[in-house]
Amino acid sequence: MDEHTETSTEPAPDVPLISVRDLRVTYKTNGLPVPAARGISFDVRPGEVLTLVGESASGKSTIAHAILGLLPDNATVSGEMYYRGQSIPDMSAAELRRLRGTEIGIIFQDGRASLTPTMRIGEQIAESFREHRGMAMEESLDAAVEVLARVFSDPRRIADAYVFQISGGMAQRVMIAMATALKPSVIIADEPTANLDPAVRHEMLTAIEEMRDSGTGILAITHDFGVVARLADRVGVMYAGVLVETADVRTTFRTPKHPYTFGLLGSIPTLAPRGRLVAMRGNPPDLTTLTDECAFLPRCNKATGECRTAGEPALTVVEGSSEGHLARCYNQMAVPFRE
Ligand SMILES: Nc1ncnc2c1ncn2[C@@H]1O[C@H](COP(=O)(O)OP(=O)(O)OP(=O)(O)O)[C@@H](O)[C@H]1O
Ligand code: SF4
Ligand SMILES: [Mg+2]
Repeated sequence: MDEHTETSTEPAPDVPLISVRDLRVTYKTNGLPVPAARGISFDVRPGEVLTLVGESASGKSTIAHAILGLLPDNATVSGEMYYRGQSIPDMSAAELRRLRGTEIGIIFQDGRASLTPTMRIGEQIAESFREHRGMAMEESLDAAVEVLARVFSDPRRIADAYVFQISGGMAQRVMIAMATALKPSVIIADEPTANLDPAVRHEMLTAIEEMRDSGTGILAITHDFGVVARLADRVGVMYAGVLVETADVRTTFRTPKHPYTFGLLGSIPTLAPRGRLVAMRGNPPDLTTLTDECAFLPRCNKATGECRTAGEPALTVVEGSSEGHLARCYNQMAVPFRE
């Protein structure tokens, strides 16, 4: 058992691998503040998959980048983020590199853009074995080929290739190989299946499931409710920089309480039961012009006077539910989405 395996199996299941508390991220563009994350809190535990869903620009990638210390210079961050209890914002540059290199595997949507164009693919993987496992050159290259063999039938050819010589689907497979090579404790996957053909999509999801089954905690960001249904233990629904609802996956699909969650599910033909399929009206708000009202108000068909006067609702435990079901709404849905 290597050193990493020992530490990764150590924590009790109730110790979160990732904890985020009241995370706030504001970008500044053209002098205007863009509040992309407005008080986000969640945990990711060993062997658990948390999926974040929500329309474009709701702040999902911002959260992933904040945890990984990859926000651009025009972002201001506050709140707490922990990896196994260790404060991520307090980590040195070297500790952050180690966190991203060995403890948290990263799968981004565009595998090609994430790979270095001037290095052979095998060399890119080998480099992390040398840096984080102290392997010698030859050993690290062999280890890279071994890792590629998990997702390619001709791993040596891929190891020798440059990124321009492989397809987008192959680049995603390389991302899987790289993200899982050092057996990280956590995987952060941002739209891991976007634009993939069905075979590579299936491989991607299978790889994530295998990681989860071996105790890895997964934070998966997706627009694809097929991915949510297949992978998620818990779901966080994002709207305009806040979580508007969090629940276990079964509750999310059956008895969502926030009108936005209801509308989101109801706009998907493959999900909506008879009578529930309705296109959601309107568009997400411009984050630069948010008021202190509920951000969903302009699109909501459940709004009452209270929504206009009482300020943005807090994320609170849904009445009569388990503690794990929270929603941010004064007039929660009374009917189930599906029986
Ligand atoms: N570098 C940046 N500078 C300024 N604004 C940004 C920057 N990155 C993101 N934003 C803004 O922050 C908000 C949240 O963006 P983010 O990329 O986190 O959303 P998302 O939920 O991941 O969207 P998508 O589903 O399209 O990937 C958007 O309004 C976006 O325009
Ligand atoms: S608080 Fe009011 S406006 Fe906001 S989602 Fe609930 S019902 Fe709609
Ligand atoms: Mg995104």
